Amino acid sequence: MNKNQVQISKLVFTHNWEDPLSDALALKIKPNDTLVTITSGGCNVLGFLLQDPKIIYAIDINLAQTYLLQLKIAAIKALSFEEFIAFSGLKTHPNRQLLFNKLKQELSPETALFWQKQNKIIANGFIMNGKYEQFVKFAGKFLKLLQGKKRVNALFNIKTQEEQIKFFDEVWNTKRFKLIFKVLFNKHILAKRGLVADYFHFDDGSTSFAESFYRRSKKAFRNLPIKGNYFLTLYLLGKYMNKEEVPDYLKEENFSLIKSRVNRIKTFTSDAQSWIDTMPNNSINCFALSNICELMSEEDTKRLFTAVNRTALPNARVIFRNLIIPREVPEELKNHIVKDKELSKFIYDNDRSFVYGKVAAYNIFKDVT
Ligand SMILES: C[S@@+](CC[C@H](N)C(=O)[O-])C[C@H]1O[C@@H](n2cnc3c(N)ncnc32)[C@H](O)[C@@H]1O
Repeated sequence: MNKNQVQISKLVFTHNWEDPLSDALALKIKPNDTLVTITSGGCNVLGFLLQDPKIIYAIDINLAQTYLLQLKIAAIKALSFEEFIAFSGLKTHPNRQLLFNKLKQELSPETALFWQKQNKIIANGFIMNGKYEQFVKFAGKFLKLLQGKKRVNALFNIKTQEEQIKFFDEVWNTKRFKLIFKVLFNKHILAKRGLVADYFHFDDGSTSFAESFYRRSKKAFRNLPIKGNYFLTLYLLGKYMNKEEVPDYLKEENFSLIKSRVNRIKTFTSDAQSWIDTMPNNSINCFALSNICELMSEEDTKRLFTAVNRTALPNARVIFRNLIIPREVPEELKNHIVKDKELSKFIYDNDRSFVYGKVAAYNIFKDVT
């Protein structure tokens, strides 16, 4: 593993904070495709199965994230839909430990041991229970306190786009709303999450983190439809609005198809570079790289994209994001890994997860050798 990379073994995410609709638009997954994706919370990996790929390689540098996806896979395999959503935390259950006992035989001994020690997460359900989700729930409570319950409820009752803009401009966009960004999204807090403060600059003309995140959130509160944006409800309420506005893998209509395909997911604990280096030339159709390049140097980013280019099949697709640090495909590869500017703009403008500074789609052009 590269010595500059962040290494963590605690469970950071139990949810994906990347909008799967953006991934779908960028990756255009076709039946029989081979995918490589960063595991993270595992929600999007499971959702990709609906597009009928041949195989999904789910890679994460953090062993705990691999264990999480393995837990979700085991639960899908061993439980009925009703049991699965109860185990996840989407539905109440008097004793989730009983459900864990039922799925345990699907786990490797190490994975089972890891989860046996995580009594609290098992008891509460895994949804919204990683370190990052704890922060999100805290931020949501703080915002609710500042904005007031009535205002938060009113936001979720908005019916039209016109009403939404008016509500944001006249009711929501208070000094207190801006304050939350100053308190929670400042250099010190973000640096604690492993981001190196000296890197930061703002493509959107902002002069601080607080301002940049304020602008990003404004897009979600003012311009994107509130209905169906489960990221917004997670940030504000710490939970989904209902059982319908949830990631695809938690929906009843998708459950049996996902169950029948779940063995197509192969999990690996590795940094993406080392894992991709093991793959043959021309072997991968889709790469979902999350925002991992931000945690690497520019030089390592160049190495990664060189490996992506080598292993990509002709017409492969890539999606990657930046939260704060502006990473890009290196200059010398830009003729091969080509940004679809129009699509990237559309994806960015409509990205329900709204926190990213960049969400971009690329096509890989190459001759087969
Ligand atoms: C990059 S993080 C970002 C999550 C979310 N997009 C955010 O901004 O908060 C997603 C996952 O990538 C993993 N990760 C980070 N660097 C990696 C690397 N070089 N190779 C593989 N996984 C990596 C982390 O362990 C984490 O589970």
